[in-house]
Amino acid sequence: MVLFGGTGDLVMRKLLPALYHQHRDGQMADDARIVGVARTDVTREEYVATAEKHCAEYLGADFDQKVWAGFARRLAYQRVDAQNAAHFADLARLLDEHAGRVRVYYLSTAPSLFTITCENLSNAGLVTPNSRVVLEKPLGHDLESSQQINDAVGKYFGEQQIYRIDHYLGKEAVQNLLALRFGNALFEPLWRREWVRDVQITVAEQLGVEARGEFYDKTGALRDMVQNHLLQLLCIVAMEPPSSIDSNAVRDEKLKVLRALKPFTPNDVATKTVRGQYRAGASGGQPVPGYLDEKGIPASSGTETFVAIKAEIDTWRWAGVPFFLRTGKRMQEKLAEIVINFRDVPHSIFGLPAGQGLNRLVIRMQPEESMKLYLLAKQPGDAMNLGQVNLNLDFEESFKTRRLEAYERLLMDAVRGRLTLFVRRDEQEAAWRWVEPIIEAWEQSTDKPKTYTAGTWGPAASSALLSRDGLSWHEEA
Ligand code: BG6
Repeated sequence: MVLFGGTGDLVMRKLLPALYHQHRDGQMADDARIVGVARTDVTREEYVATAEKHCAEYLGADFDQKVWAGFARRLAYQRVDAQNAAHFADLARLLDEHAGRVRVYYLSTAPSLFTITCENLSNAGLVTPNSRVVLEKPLGHDLESSQQINDAVGKYFGEQQIYRIDHYLGKEAVQNLLALRFGNALFEPLWRREWVRDVQITVAEQLGVEARGEFYDKTGALRDMVQNHLLQLLCIVAMEPPSSIDSNAVRDEKLKVLRALKPFTPNDVATKTVRGQYRAGASGGQPVPGYLDEKGIPASSGTETFVAIKAEIDTWRWAGVPFFLRTGKRMQEKLAEIVINFRDVPHSIFGLPAGQGLNRLVIRMQPEESMKLYLLAKQPGDAMNLGQVNLNLDFEESFKTRRLEAYERLLMDAVRGRLTLFVRRDEQEAAWRWVEPIIEAWEQSTDKPKTYTAGTWGPAASSALLSRDGLSWHEEA
């Protein structure tokens, strides 16, 4: 595995710790090697020492010196400037002894370097039928730029060799939702407009833009989170049962959902989307600055740090069921969840007012992964009083195995050639097609994003988006 951007944050905080876990659990072939690649001129020893420091910090109690010593033997470092063909010859020499083996090139660099990196890999003879390339987001800024990246990478790697990563698909709870939906007969009959009232997908973060201000200001929450993570989650909820778990069978069904998303007119953008930007407030009890005072953000920035959208899917299964999407930085809690709200019973013999007996399935990805089904049950005692209980459908206890981090799962899938949890080109482009009219309408609008105080659930307009349908966001229920 060759990690481009090898000294970067993602490699140090996520990828190397993920690989460490897989090494510790005996999931790596004895002769598997990991090569960090970056422009910096450091020795292997220096690179390993930096990696050790970060992994120890990130892994905490999971870090074990003896395990690390074994893992570190797999690590190498190669200085490569993506623009410099000669550096790729050096890389080829390092990898040469392993010609013919599976090679995974993980591009965790600026997308502007993807084309030249692939070209240089190819010219150095490093792209073989057993080679794979993993592309980290952002994959473009809009449909056109994403097509350019896909065309460029596609010159050197076939679609079956391209692994577009969306780490939300690697989360255990998301895969558990697939298992729940398609492994059981129970849910499928209910999984449709007749029984589902609304779906809510929230990915809320407590963090602000941190050190990524300059990048973030050109991106915004719609491109950073909705175009990829939230739409992928929506696909997993809304897709028809695929004929198998085969990558193309699953991705065909997701694509159909993306293509069936109702397109937004400028008027829809005004009434069915909310964009927000945080102002100074508090996070975790500490005062925090507003977005415009963060490093790298121009004082006049109109970039959104919060989005809420009412999406609709034009199919027989989902016509008329709102899918509410919401994501933001500097929100009250770190919370990522999918909520399926089922309809009320047609008539309550217990005299409960509408909405009281709501059956609800809540799939949590953050802060912990869980899956709960909320039902009404009789409270013990004389009277026929009902109370809400939840069935825990998350069988961590029963299976007694460690949960894999999203990146662990996805990295090893790339090594093993499993594409199911990666995004195909046509899916990615369909997602861009759907978000582009929203971007355009926002750009043309003279309105600024609505403000919200850091540490809250976003602008008031976000609640109003649901209350127009007589609904409210799950946490406010
Ligand atoms: C990334 C975004 O894709 O996902 C970040 O670029 C965001 O802005 C992150 O913070 C959230 O991922 P997670 O797994 O921490 O919810």
